[in-house]
Amino acid sequence: MSDETATAGKPALGIGMVGYAFMGAAHSQGWRTAPRVYDLPLRPAMAAVCGRDPAKVAAAADQLGWAAAETDWRALITRDDVQLVDVCTPGDSHAEIAIAALEAGKHVLCEKPLANSVAEAEAMVAAARRARERGQLAMVGFNYRRVPALSYARKLVADGRLGALRHVRLTYLQDWLMDPEFPLAWRLQREHAGSGALGDLGAHIVDLAQYLAGERVAGVSAHTETFVKERPLPASAAGLSGAAGAGRGRVTVDDAAVFSGRMAGGALASFEVSRMAAGRKNAMSVELNGELGSLSFDLERLNELQFHDHADDPAISGFRRVLVTEPEHPYLEGWWPPGHGLGYEHTFVHQARDLITAIAEGEQPAPSFEDGLQVQRVLAAVEESAEKNSVYTAVDQHPTP
Ligand SMILES: NC(=O)c1ccc[n+]([C@@H]2O[C@H](COP(=O)([O-])OP(=O)(O)OC[C@H]3O[C@@H](n4cnc5c(N)ncnc54)[C@H](O)[C@@H]3O)[C@@H](O)[C@H]2O)c1
Repeated sequence: MSDETATAGKPALGIGMVGYAFMGAAHSQGWRTAPRVYDLPLRPAMAAVCGRDPAKVAAAADQLGWAAAETDWRALITRDDVQLVDVCTPGDSHAEIAIAALEAGKHVLCEKPLANSVAEAEAMVAAARRARERGQLAMVGFNYRRVPALSYARKLVADGRLGALRHVRLTYLQDWLMDPEFPLAWRLQREHAGSGALGDLGAHIVDLAQYLAGERVAGVSAHTETFVKERPLPASAAGLSGAAGAGRGRVTVDDAAVFSGRMAGGALASFEVSRMAAGRKNAMSVELNGELGSLSFDLERLNELQFHDHADDPAISGFRRVLVTEPEHPYLEGWWPPGHGLGYEHTFVHQARDLITAIAEGEQPAPSFEDGLQVQRVLAAVEESAEKNSVYTAVDQHPTP
C-alpha cells in the first residue's frame, strides 16, 4: 500500500482485524481511508486479518488491503506488529476475543452489540478497566454516532437548543427476513447472536437515544415477536444474505421488538425495530421533541437534519432542512465542498479517526465498553419485560460490574 498521506511519517499503529465479511469490509474501508482524509497522529498499519478458512482469508487480505492473513485469532492477538485488535465477528465471540486481546496488551475496537449477555459485557468492562490502567483503550463500534448529522444533533441538544427533552422516538426497520424461506443464518440463532432485531438494530437505537439525549434509559415496557418460527438450515450465509440448504430449524430470536420507556431525565422514549417491515431496507429514524424545539433525522437522507425552533415566528415556523455538509459540521473538514454528501461508509472512517486520535492522546474513546454494557442492560430489560407480558422493567443502572 503506498503511503502518500498527511499521516505518512507518523508512528505506526498496527491493526489486526478478526472477521472479514460485512463489518470486516466496512472497517477495512475505515482504516484504509482515514489517514488519506485526515492528518492523524498515528499511522494505521493494516498488519493482519483473521478468518478460519486459509484460502478465503488470504483472498480477503488481498482485496481489503491487509499485509498478512491469520487463521486463528489467538495468533493474531499476540503478533508484535498488532497494537489494536478490531473484532468484527458475530456476538458469540466478542467477549472471548476482546478480553484476550486486552489481556495481551492490545487496544480493542469491538463491533456492537458489545456482547450476547449482560454477564459477558460486565466481564468485558472489567477487562477494559484493567487494560486502561496499563494504557490500553477499548471502544465499541456504534458507528451511527459518527454520521455528521447525528454528531451535530448531539451538539444541538448539549447546547440546549431543544431545552429539556420530552420525547425521544426512534425506529430502525429492515425487511430482509420477509421471505419465510430465508435460511437460519447466525443472526437468527440465539447462541450466536444473543437476540434478533433487538440486539442488532435495537442496540444501535438505544445507544443513539442515550448518546443524543445525554442520559440513560431508565426502564422499559416491551413486546417482542418471532413471526416466522422455523426456517431452512443454511447452505451458506453471510451478512444479510444466504442460500437455503436441507432440513429446517427453529428460529430462537425475535424478528421484531417494540418498547417504550422513560429516560432518566424524564422524557418519554419509544423504540421499534423489525426485520420484517416490508419495503424498509435500512430505515432508521430519530425524532427528539424538547421544550424549545425538535430535531428529526432519517438515515436514508443522512446528510440532512431537520430542526424546528419553537421560538420562530409562527407564521413562518416549521422544520428547516439543515444540509450537514459545511466545513464547521463534525467530520466535514476532511471531506468535499458543501453539498457534496457523505454516505454509510464514511461513519467507519470517522470511527477510525476518533479511535486513533484517542489512542494517541491516551484519552478514553467513546462509546466505551461501559456504554456498551449500559445498552446491553437495556436490551436485557426489554427481553425481561417482554417475557413478563410487558410489565415495566427498570434498567439496572449499577455503575460498576
Ligand atoms: N455497526 C454496524 O452498522 C453493523 C452492521 C452489521 C453488523 N454489525 C456487527 O458486526 C459483527 C459482525 O457482523 P457481520 O455482519 O460482519 O457478520 P458476517 O457474517 O458478515 O461476518 C462475520 C465474520 O466473522 C468471521 N468469524 C466468525 N467467527 C470467527 C472466529 N471464531 N474466528 C475468525 N473469524 C470468525 C466469519 O468468518 C465472517 O468473516 C456483529 O457483531 C454485528 O452485530 C455491525
